[in-house]
Amino acid sequence: MHMQDRKKITTSKIRKMKQDGEPISVVTAYDYPSAKLAEEAGVDMILVGDSLGNVVLGYESTLPVTLDDMIYHTRAVTRAVQTTFVVTDMPFMTYHGSLDETLKQVARIMREGLSMAVKMEGGAEIAETVKAIVQAGVPVMGHIGLTPQSIYQLGGYKIQGKDQVQAERLLKDAKALQEAGAFAVVLELVTEELAAQISKELEIPTIGIGSGAGCDGQVLVFHDILQYASPLHPKKFVKTYANIGEPIREGIAQYVKEVKSRQFPAQEHVFHMDKEVIEYLYGGKKES
Ligand code: KIV
Repeated sequence: MHMQDRKKITTSKIRKMKQDGEPISVVTAYDYPSAKLAEEAGVDMILVGDSLGNVVLGYESTLPVTLDDMIYHTRAVTRAVQTTFVVTDMPFMTYHGSLDETLKQVARIMREGLSMAVKMEGGAEIAETVKAIVQAGVPVMGHIGLTPQSIYQLGGYKIQGKDQVQAERLLKDAKALQEAGAFAVVLELVTEELAAQISKELEIPTIGIGSGAGCDGQVLVFHDILQYASPLHPKKFVKTYANIGEPIREGIAQYVKEVKSRQFPAQEHVFHMDKEVIEYLYGGKKES
């Protein structure tokens, strides 16, 4: 099916996909071309993730990403899509102040970024906030397990849900988010067994990253699956589907070579003046 003929993906459609046992495909995108290509490829949902900080802005973590960054990039993504559901990450510390303040930040993502939903990291402790945002009419996607905004508290990129205490807490968090009205929840770097159990116990879909095939959907980072200059350390849970970094580097190197050797621009790339004008200006006919 041509993607323009596809009906718009909505939160009800996403929930129905879980009921029908149809896996939900999600990829991150941060600008117009990546979002356009993702939609043309048939992805169900685009996440404008704050991984933007790592893969687009070159930061070490997601912490420096601002609300303005998220709005700017979401705008480019939403301009590119017609039917894909777009979710935007609420960046670090933009939903931990007063409810009033949080709702203002969410409103900016929706009004200025033209997003369709927001994603927030955290479990039971943010359930009241999630509830208020949902009541204000904005769909919320939860995010538990490895939550990169708390990386310094977690002490690194560690697998979550390995022991009983963690496992019970994560299941409780997932249920609290569902109870608060979240339409889906991301499970990041959660053990496969626990992720499958959470997916079974929830009515809303789970979207896994590094959490195994028992999740209702999968999300990966655009730059990771395409080897688009993504940070170099390999990740066990990522599969490379194309290596676009290589041809891009080669293409630019060839361009540099041709500029240096004056092979580029060639005759087919230039524009000419009319003969009479050349004659007038430079042919000696000009009267002083
Ligand atoms: O920021 C992001 O891209 C994310 C996904 C990895 C789930 O949160």
